[in-house]
Amino acid sequence: MNLTQLVNRKPLPDPWSEGEKIPWNDPEFSARMLEHHLTQEHDMASRRLTIIDKQCTWINKQTKPHSKILDLACGPGLYSERLTQRGHKLTGIDFGPASIKHAKEQAKEKGLDITYKLEDIRTADYGTDNDLVLFIYGEFNVFKTSDIKQILAKAHKSLTQGGKLIIEPNRYETIKNEGNSPPSWYSTQGGLFSPKPHICLMENFWHPEQNTATNRYIIIDAATGEATLHASSMIAYTRDDYKTLLTEAGFTDIEFYESLTGEEIEEQKHLEVVVAHKK
Ligand SMILES: C[S@@+](CC[C@H](N)C(=O)[O-])C[C@H]1O[C@@H](n2cnc3c(N)ncnc32)[C@H](O)[C@@H]1O
Repeated sequence: MNLTQLVNRKPLPDPWSEGEKIPWNDPEFSARMLEHHLTQEHDMASRRLTIIDKQCTWINKQTKPHSKILDLACGPGLYSERLTQRGHKLTGIDFGPASIKHAKEQAKEKGLDITYKLEDIRTADYGTDNDLVLFIYGEFNVFKTSDIKQILAKAHKSLTQGGKLIIEPNRYETIKNEGNSPPSWYSTQGGLFSPKPHICLMENFWHPEQNTATNRYIIIDAATGEATLHASSMIAYTRDDYKTLLTEAGFTDIEFYESLTGEEIEEQKHLEVVVAHKK
């Protein structure tokens, strides 16, 4: 996109019309994102290990000893590793190549028997007899409803009777506020979206009739002026919506928690936790 095309961009993009999500599965982007997963300076891609340790203590209590656990969108395996160390048998699926490579290397180095699969969770096989399926840290809302229905149906099918699903979506208000937040920008010598000097312009849109927020990231290369557009959309669901989605997928006894430690934590207030059971 050149600057004239940028100026003439659509004032209000339809959700998903300009892209589904940030390019987690692009090899170079994934390598840059891995640094954000692993840094202990912020919680942007994965949370800091002090938080993850507490969350794994809580997750461990939600399932029986020696459970078979599926970690959907596992990233670099920070939860899979810790739950394996607590005696469970983990499979992690993610389509970020650098994350899965790192996760496999770490498992080998630490002598942990974890199966990691570099696959898209929309098409991946979830296996059978899982005692617990995890889908954590906000990615739930980034999928179209048709995809999320399939993911939930597959998760339900893969669970053993008495098994559980734990999801950690963004709260309705989080997404609405994000969609309604004003445009912003930054300049950098190199960052997540490009290793070269660039300006990143961010625009946000809220589509009330679809309960969907769309974020645009426009990356302008400092040397060429060429603009690259990334976009992602997130659906805001109410607790009633979660109950409907999960019930339709066959789940029962749907419970809500304030966080993945069960308690209200200031830093995690933008997320909530939903636990659903397979009878
Ligand atoms: C916010 S990160 C969370 C990672 C991990 N759950 C954690 O908390 O450390 C979201 C993850 O979702 C993955 N992801 C997004 N869409 C995916 C898809 N369609 N299939 C597989 N993984 C996906 C990304 O690659 C990324 O690792």
